[in-house]
Amino acid sequence: MFSKETYTQRRNRLRKDVGNGIILLLGNNEVGMNYKANTYHFRQDSNFLYFFALDQAGLAGVLDVEENEDIVFGDELTMEDIVWTGPQPTIADRAAQVGVSKVLPFNDLLNFLKNAAAKGRPIHFTPPYRHDNMIFLHEMLGIPFGQLNEKASVSLIKAIVAQRSHKSEEEIAEMEKAVNISGAMHVAVMKAAAPGKKESEMAGIAQGIAKGMGGDIAYGIILSVNGQTLHNHYHGNTMKSGQLLLGDHGADTPMHYAGDLTRTCPVDKKFTARQKDIYNIVLDAEVSAIESLKPGLTYMDVHLAAARRMAEGLKSLGLMKGDLNAAVEQGAHALFFPHGLGHMIGLDVHDMEDLGEQYVGYSDDVQRSKLFGTAYLRLGRALEPGFVLTVEPGIYFIPELIDQWRSEGKFADFINYDKLYDWRSFGGVRIEDNVLITENSHRILGNPVPKTVEEVEALRS
Ligand code: GLY
Repeated sequence: MFSKETYTQRRNRLRKDVGNGIILLLGNNEVGMNYKANTYHFRQDSNFLYFFALDQAGLAGVLDVEENEDIVFGDELTMEDIVWTGPQPTIADRAAQVGVSKVLPFNDLLNFLKNAAAKGRPIHFTPPYRHDNMIFLHEMLGIPFGQLNEKASVSLIKAIVAQRSHKSEEEIAEMEKAVNISGAMHVAVMKAAAPGKKESEMAGIAQGIAKGMGGDIAYGIILSVNGQTLHNHYHGNTMKSGQLLLGDHGADTPMHYAGDLTRTCPVDKKFTARQKDIYNIVLDAEVSAIESLKPGLTYMDVHLAAARRMAEGLKSLGLMKGDLNAAVEQGAHALFFPHGLGHMIGLDVHDMEDLGEQYVGYSDDVQRSKLFGTAYLRLGRALEPGFVLTVEPGIYFIPELIDQWRSEGKFADFINYDKLYDWRSFGGVRIEDNVLITENSHRILGNPVPKTVEEVEALRS
């Protein structure tokens, strides 16, 4: 964890920014996989980690604005627990390391909240995403399940987003670690891929590295010869000559900062001419988008510029046609690029997504598009120093979508459906890096991971 001062300053600022009442930050609990005691891998809530850093189940943090006091609620281990888990530092000792001196049994939270509510004090909470915490909030605060999101505190959400969006130097150092572990996962997979091997073997290599470095994966591994399926978590295929392998995976460090990289490589040692064409169009869009990044620019504009650049490349191959500015404005490019250019990243791979993308990725000035494709952009607002984001353009050939659009005659002025028929089984290419916005420009985080055709082929050979 960072120093006691870091967490104390974060909580002091949060109390000041929210301005009144009780701020309740619920930690996560263990979740049973197939019965209660056989649990999934534990992942603490990221807001709780950011302000309290205590990486264990069964805790809640309270910031009392008027009393200027922070409290951790949780139960110390009993001797029976210790027989199974071994001795652990007490919650009180751990809380002291992050500057919290008051620790109370978890059940005291009920009376604490009831007293606060009886005095008419606002109780601020974030939108819950786990069912046990939904039940808890419902029972504690009497809010119907269906209203928990709308009753979440907008002032708390905005105050958290304001802090977590700007990564400090010590956070950036952690994120570099996350990206470097993620890079090692990709290099190992790109070295190991070969016709006849299974995707699951590659996914195992990637996960093994993440775990071996003391952390885990930051999100379910996307790794597939069917890269045209954007979030493909199925790893049952055997790789064949002539295919592309798309890997989108990243590490969650022991401090729970995420990396999120994507690389696409041929299953053979070299790209085919056609694979190289598409790969270079995506690479050009990725590199030029990164080169343009600086504070003040909206990420919506960067997204649209990348879409136009890929549309130009597709036109040069005869797959798109017509006025490409109009094509992108109307959303025709989304046949090939049906997702956003990127998102914030930090403690979460989609950073702070639990708080609501309208607060994290958009502003009064930049509203979310309603167009298919562009609507999936998670970050549209103006960039600021300290933001860390992903840049991840891609081109995909999705047979089902091609067939549907063709049968509807959709964007027939911009898409050359006859030529496209021949590309149906191509798959997909995505290339992704994680980038910090600096005072005047940007910096790609982590050590370079082979990315040009020449670099990838050199690694493959
Ligand atoms: N890398 C997975 C995602 O951005 O959703």
